[in-house]
Amino acid sequence: KKVVLAYSGGLDTSITIPWLKENYGCEVIAVVGNVGQDDELEGLEEKAIQTGASKIFIEDLTDEFVEDFVFETLKAGAKYEGKYLLGTSFARPVIAKRLVEIAHREGADAIAHGCTGKGNDQVRFELAVKAFDPDMEIIAPWRTWELKSREDEIEYAKERNIPLPMKEDNIYSEDRNIWHVSHEGLDLEYPDTEPNYDNFLKMSVSPENAPNTPTYVTISFEKGIPVAVNGEKMSGKNIIKVLNKVGGENGVGIDDIIENRLVGMKVRGVYENPGGAILYKAHEILESITLDGDTQHYKDVVSVEFANVVYNGKWFSPLREALSAFVNKTQETVTGEVKLKLYKGNIINAGVTSPYSLYNEEFATFGEDGVYDQHDSQGFVNLYSLSTKVQSMMKKKLKNN
Ligand code: ARG
Ligand code: SIN
Repeated sequence: KKVVLAYSGGLDTSITIPWLKENYGCEVIAVVGNVGQDDELEGLEEKAIQTGASKIFIEDLTDEFVEDFVFETLKAGAKYEGKYLLGTSFARPVIAKRLVEIAHREGADAIAHGCTGKGNDQVRFELAVKAFDPDMEIIAPWRTWELKSREDEIEYAKERNIPLPMKEDNIYSEDRNIWHVSHEGLDLEYPDTEPNYDNFLKMSVSPENAPNTPTYVTISFEKGIPVAVNGEKMSGKNIIKVLNKVGGENGVGIDDIIENRLVGMKVRGVYENPGGAILYKAHEILESITLDGDTQHYKDVVSVEFANVVYNGKWFSPLREALSAFVNKTQETVTGEVKLKLYKGNIINAGVTSPYSLYNEEFATFGEDGVYDQHDSQGFVNLYSLSTKVQSMMKKKLKNN
């Protein structure tokens, strides 16, 4: 038997290798999806083999991740529960898709992952696997093994000479990629506790440690997709990297959230999304001048649904594709430039331009104007208020009887 394992080199997926071999008598092929997790990728090759994997594939999925998942979601303006930029949620499907491809190529019988039975990630991995292979066996050791705590896991690893990650205690449950870092667990499990950012932030400084002078940044978009920073054309990947750096230095995009997991419980997490927060804000400002009001309002509804679908693991679904089709239609005129001021955790609008701007000073002005006849409004307000008037007449009649 051959099993393809979604491997990260962390404690959970490390002990999964010997566990699979002992319990299934199988060969384990480790697969790492590189979605921009940076230094976490160092030394994985050696480590996986040392831990007992027969082979390891490190797959660079970063461009696909950015272009087909991150920007697709940015265009939708989708934030789960109005806040979370979905950094982990859409990384699972892109990795799972590649796991299936490799499982087929290597003739594997099953795919294994290191997600717990209490989270969202198990759902996202498994739905994406099923979307590409309805018959693939899925093994989720966390849901069946006897190991109940980190201590159990460390014990298990030590008994088998598995190289442990550097630090043994005081580690949050983190997930990192080019778009974000998430932190959950430890003291964050107590909502009355203020997080000590200086202890754990990976991409950013806390706002009070940011410079006392603002930094300006200009982002250009074409059809809703960011294409340049400060006038310099760049790949999507590099745009995010540049904005992560400048955003991180200014402490923007840190969010401390209590969210509702699909499986029912509330969980608190701290997210770092420096580049993402900048791009969302810029995109939103650009849409405010390029989308007509009706479309903008309907898109707000679509954004909420888009975020739910992605969070809940249905990236590869007819609904997500249909929502994307709507979103992409709206983005045809979302082209232009947005200037932002970054200052101690704040992202401040500093001006927007677009060749497709619908903003018209002549109509908006409080000064004298020649294009808007205020006499027209009398008839409009009379008709618009009719149902309110009828309601009010009825109430008056009842009161007088
Ligand atoms: N709560 C976030 C989400 O569901 C982050 C999950 C992080 N996952 C992890 N294995 N640490 O998308
Ligand atoms: C996990 O439980 O494996 C991580 C958190 C999540 O999936 O929501």
